[in-house]
Amino acid sequence: MNLYQIAVIVGSLRHASFNRQLSHAIVKLAPPNFTFKPVTIGDLPLYNQDDDANPAESVKRLKTEIRAAQGLIFVTAEYNRSIPGVLKNAIDHASRPYGESAWDGKPAGILSVSVGAIGTSLAQQHLRNVLAYLDVPTLCQPEVFLQATEGLVDQTGSIGADSKEFLQDWMNRYVAWVKTHAV
Ligand SMILES: Cc1cc2nc3c(=O)[nH]c(=O)nc-3n(C[C@H](O)[C@H](O)[C@H](O)COP(=O)(O)O)c2cc1C
Repeated sequence: MNLYQIAVIVGSLRHASFNRQLSHAIVKLAPPNFTFKPVTIGDLPLYNQDDDANPAESVKRLKTEIRAAQGLIFVTAEYNRSIPGVLKNAIDHASRPYGESAWDGKPAGILSVSVGAIGTSLAQQHLRNVLAYLDVPTLCQPEVFLQATEGLVDQTGSIGADSKEFLQDWMNRYVAWVKTHAV
């Protein structure tokens, strides 16, 4: 049985982030040959092209962790109808120097939770745009726009009963997507 390591990037630094809670819960729906590595992005400096030749240790670590993964999961907040700056900063860091992107060809899935009723569709659409440029094949369906309701993640840190079937279907499709596209 092939083993797959997935880098999980959360687009929120908030301590009690709903998206981070979701990122911990969603991985419980994966098969045993999939393992998940949360990627820290809060310690990255602001991206500055002048530093490309001499990247910070946190930037080197980020790129190493992305390169070691066979797939990616982005679980992101929506800020002002787009992706949070911290996530874009991380994406930019791992995309450079030109020609040395760590993202190239890594299959990805996107999930989001927000407090708003219309969810995070615009943030996800912006993220898809960025990932398309970076040559990241991204699972299209089902789209996952979740509202932070009581019980979305239960007391044990698992996906709650109301969303479980939907998110298990997402995970099953994501697993198939990674198997098809892993480089
Ligand atoms: C700067 C800022 C901008 C926000 N903009 C949006 C938005 O455009 N759409 C939305 O649904 N929620 C928006 N929110 C509310 C977030 O959905 C909410 O703060 C959520 O908890 C963020 O995710 P997290 O819990 O993972 O940090 C915004 C919050 C902040 C702090």
